Amino acid sequence: MKEKINRLFDEIRAWAPASKEDVEALRIQYLSKKGVITELFADFKQVSAEEKRELGKMLNDLKNAAQDKLNELKSQFDVAKESESLDLTRSASAVHLGTRHPLTLVKNEIIEIFSRLGFTVAEGPEIEDDWHVFGALNFPPEHPARDMQDTFFIEKAPDILLRTHTSSVQSHVMTTQKPPIRVLCPGRVYRNEAISYRAHCFFHQVEGLYIDKNVSFADLKQALLYFAKEIFGEDTRIRLRPSYFPFTEPSAEMDISCNICGGKGCNFCKHTGWVEILGCGMVDPNVLEACGIDSKVYSGYAFGMGVERITNLKYRVKDLRMFSENDLRFLNQFESTL
Ligand code: DAH
Repeated sequence: MKEKINRLFDEIRAWAPASKEDVEALRIQYLSKKGVITELFADFKQVSAEEKRELGKMLNDLKNAAQDKLNELKSQFDVAKESESLDLTRSASAVHLGTRHPLTLVKNEIIEIFSRLGFTVAEGPEIEDDWHVFGALNFPPEHPARDMQDTFFIEKAPDILLRTHTSSVQSHVMTTQKPPIRVLCPGRVYRNEAISYRAHCFFHQVEGLYIDKNVSFADLKQALLYFAKEIFGEDTRIRLRPSYFPFTEPSAEMDISCNICGGKGCNFCKHTGWVEILGCGMVDPNVLEACGIDSKVYSGYAFGMGVERITNLKYRVKDLRMFSENDLRFLNQFESTL
């Protein structure tokens, strides 16, 4: 029996299975109920009392050695299996595609619509000087019109401030480009307002500017009607109400027929059937001259709209603060290819 045990020790040491199945075959052959080692334990019962001590120890050692070797082989094959299926180029978890911010979606839509009319995008700084935001745009110093916009000043002298409207980009474009000019200026603007569901200290605008020879108010109206129908639907009507802005003359505010009740009157349009969406007008000759454009040769129109306002009309977001809270439950509701 000793000899047999020693031979088995050698056999176990020499085990070299090629697969996980081979490992299992070894287990069956040696350690299962009918395995060689189990049978030896049965034979052990007939062994004489003197031999029992020595053989018993040998048998136990043999069984442990077999079991240890089996465990080791098993884990080797498990690891091998894992690394076989390990694709290092695979991403760790399913790729979750994000969504664009609703304000970006609407801004892109506005740009896309006007780009069909030949407008390109111009951008300018958010930290501005007084001249680009007010001076060039015909706001005389101490003019009460400046009170229309609560400015955040960074330095009082020289006046460095956060732009209160993207009309400031007009000043940059007109001083650096020659007409014809046809630009859209999207961007963030800042005003010193208490934050509530209907006002925020920052928001977004898209400004439009067209300067060429013989640009008329009719051109402005046509462009805005086209825009309104494209963004709010073919049935949308517009109306222009006289208004005042220092940089346009004449100036107007544009309403669209309420896209919620279709103009019949509802809570949203305060039962008027109309909702205001933008300001516009013919560029004041003073602005053209301030920016070095001959107002006797050129004329132009401008318009400016709030992106939040248009977004609210399209998506009925009741609380402006949601746009800047980064709540995924809100943001994930907006999906688009734009
Ligand atoms: N800048 C104006 C504002 O922030 C919006 C505006 C009105 C822009 C009329 C224009 C315009 O270009 O012609 O309230």
